Amino acid sequence: MTAATRQRCASCGKEFSETDPHPRCPSCRGLLAIEHAAPALTGRELRGLFDGRPHRSGVWRFQEIVLPTAQDIISYPEGNTPLLARPIVSRWAEVDELLLKHEGLNPTGSFKDRGMTVGVTQARRVGATAVACATTGNTGASLAAYAGIAGLPALVVIPKGQVAVGKVAQAIAYGARVLVVRSNFDRCLELVDEASRELGVYLLNSVNPFRLEGQKTIVLEMLQQLGWEAPDWIVVPAGNLGNTAAFGRALIEAREWGLIDRLPRLAAIQATGAAPFAASFRDGFTRRHSVEPHTIATAINIGNPASYDRAVVAIRETDGVVTAVEDNAILEAKAVVDAAGVGCEPASAAAVAGARQLAREGVIRPTDRVVAVLTGHLLKDPAAVTRYHVETEPPPPRANRPIEIEPLMSEIERELSRL
Ligand code: F0G
Repeated sequence: MTAATRQRCASCGKEFSETDPHPRCPSCRGLLAIEHAAPALTGRELRGLFDGRPHRSGVWRFQEIVLPTAQDIISYPEGNTPLLARPIVSRWAEVDELLLKHEGLNPTGSFKDRGMTVGVTQARRVGATAVACATTGNTGASLAAYAGIAGLPALVVIPKGQVAVGKVAQAIAYGARVLVVRSNFDRCLELVDEASRELGVYLLNSVNPFRLEGQKTIVLEMLQQLGWEAPDWIVVPAGNLGNTAAFGRALIEAREWGLIDRLPRLAAIQATGAAPFAASFRDGFTRRHSVEPHTIATAINIGNPASYDRAVVAIRETDGVVTAVEDNAILEAKAVVDAAGVGCEPASAAAVAGARQLAREGVIRPTDRVVAVLTGHLLKDPAAVTRYHVETEPPPPRANRPIEIEPLMSEIERELSRL
C-alpha cells in the first residue's frame, strides 16, 4: 500500500512535500499537519494487518498510518507498553474500570520515544546535521538517546532548576549538549524555535508534526489491546498539548478508516498552577490564555502551550473536556499508583487525579470504561518521592517513612509487628 503523504499548514492551508524540512509553515509560521491519503484497505483489513504483525516496535507496527514512506528507520525499539488493570487504583478513582496505559515503560521512560523514533528518522531523511529541543525533561532525554542511535549531534535546552534529576541525568549520559537557561520552559521553546529558523538546527519539539505521528500510536496500540473496542474516555495529562493533539488525530483517523466505529471522549488534565488550556476551555475556546506556571509536576509546568490550536480541534472533535487538578491531588494519586506497584512520575498521576475529579463531578460515569495514560516512569523524579514520603511535615496521609534502626533483631521484630 502506498499512501501519498503531505504536510499542510493548519493556519493558511498551504501544502508542502513530506520532506520539506521546516518545522512550521515557512509562509505564516502556523502549525503543520501530516496528511496521509486514506489507506487502500478496509477497516477490517487494516485491523487484520496490524493484528497479524507482531513488531518489535509498537510505533512502526502502524507504519501505514504513521509514516508509510519511511525507510532507514531509527528505532530503539519503543512502544508495546502494557495496558494494566489495577483495582486499587480504579477504586480510588471511583470508576469501575480504569485501565492504565503505562507509557513510562518505553526505553527512555516516557511516551516521548514514540514521537522521537519518527522525528529522528525524519531528521535523517531531510539531511539534518544537528537536532534540538526545549524541554521540561522527557523530550530531552528521548532526543538525546535517539540522536545517539542516529549519530546526530543534539542540543537539549532546559529551564534552570525546573527539570527532574533523572531526566537531566539521561540527557547528559546519552551525550547531548545540555544548555541550562535562566528562564522557564516557554522561553526555552521560543529560543530553540528561533535557532531552528536562524541557525538551521532541526527542531524536534512537538511543534514538529512528525513527532505527533509517532505519538498517535499510544492510542492505536491501546485500541488494539482493547480488541478495537473504543473505551468511553481517554484521560491524558496536558502540558504543551502535543499528546492531546496527537490523540485527537489518531481517533479521528481511526474512525474515518474503519478501525473503530465510535469515538472515545478525550479528557485533558492540567495542574491548577499551569492550566492555560483549562482556562480556554472554560471560555468555550474563545480566547487563548497564557500564565506564569507553577506546579510540582515539572513535566507539565508550561504556561503557553505550543500545540494549542491543534489541541482545541482534538477536544472539539471528540466532545472532550479539559480540567485542572491541585498539586495535592496529583501527589495523592501518585502515592496510590506507586503503592499499587505500578509507579509513575507526578505529571502522569495528574491523569488519575483528573479521572477521579471528573467521576466525582459526574462527568465520567462510574460504569464508563476509562483509560488513563501514565506518561512517565517513577524514577524520572525520585526527589518528588522523597519530598512526599520523607520530608513533608506533617506527613501526608499516605507517607511511607523509612525507619532508621540499630543493628538488632529486636528492632526488626518490633517493626515486623507493626506492619
Ligand atoms: N507527561 C509527561 C511525563 C511529560 O513529560 C509531558 C510533556 C506531558 C505529560 C505533557 O505532554 O506536552 O504533549 O501535553 N513533556 C514535554 C517535555 C513538554 O519537554 O518533555 P504534552
